[in-house]
Amino acid sequence: MMKQSAAKGKATDDEWHPAPVPETSSLTTLREAARGCRACPLYKNATQTVFGEGPKKAAMMLLGEQPGDQEDLSGKPFIGPAGQLLDRALEEAGIDRNAVYVTNTVKHFKWEPRGKRRIHQKPSSRDIAACRPWMEAELRVVRPGVLVCLGSTAAQALFGSSFRVTKERGKVLESEFAPRVVPTVHPSSLLRQPDEESRRREYALFVEDLRVALRASTAK
Ligand code: URA
Repeated sequence: MMKQSAAKGKATDDEWHPAPVPETSSLTTLREAARGCRACPLYKNATQTVFGEGPKKAAMMLLGEQPGDQEDLSGKPFIGPAGQLLDRALEEAGIDRNAVYVTNTVKHFKWEPRGKRRIHQKPSSRDIAACRPWMEAELRVVRPGVLVCLGSTAAQALFGSSFRVTKERGKVLESEFAPRVVPTVHPSSLLRQPDEESRRREYALFVEDLRVALRASTAK
């Protein structure tokens, strides 16, 4: 059942605080703890927490923005239209999705109703800050050799709000969170391209960025 509650009364400042993450090296324990997360108001309108998925020893981690409509209902990251496009691009780049840890910067779906549809809303800097301890815990436990930031929310969570994916995409960068970080566009931006030609061009660039990440994941 889709939740239609809350959203009426405005959230107050004390509804955001850093998520209380347990000290553990177990992804299962983290996932269980995140299930009941109330660190920001997004849980009120979401069906469930969508935690990351994939092997603990993954050499590559993919970081998206937040779960979408289908992810919210299923509890799995990147399974909707953007996820299906991502799967295709990963395969074309020679990356096995099952070998990759896939997660999001924010773990609850933020949306507003429009008729019967739930329309994606961009998470605020407070939503992102509250959820951040989960992402940091996933990075600490998985310790991927390369982290791929899918879109500006993920990239700016790592490098700050002045970071521009359009300028930095496809580069191999360093950060305190992972030895190599490759920023690229979000796969949903490919779905929004105005015509077939730009869709094809943007998709090819996206696959190329993923190839850069693959090479970076095996580099010494
Ligand atoms: N978009 C994201 O950023 N993450 C998902 O899991 C789905 C769509």
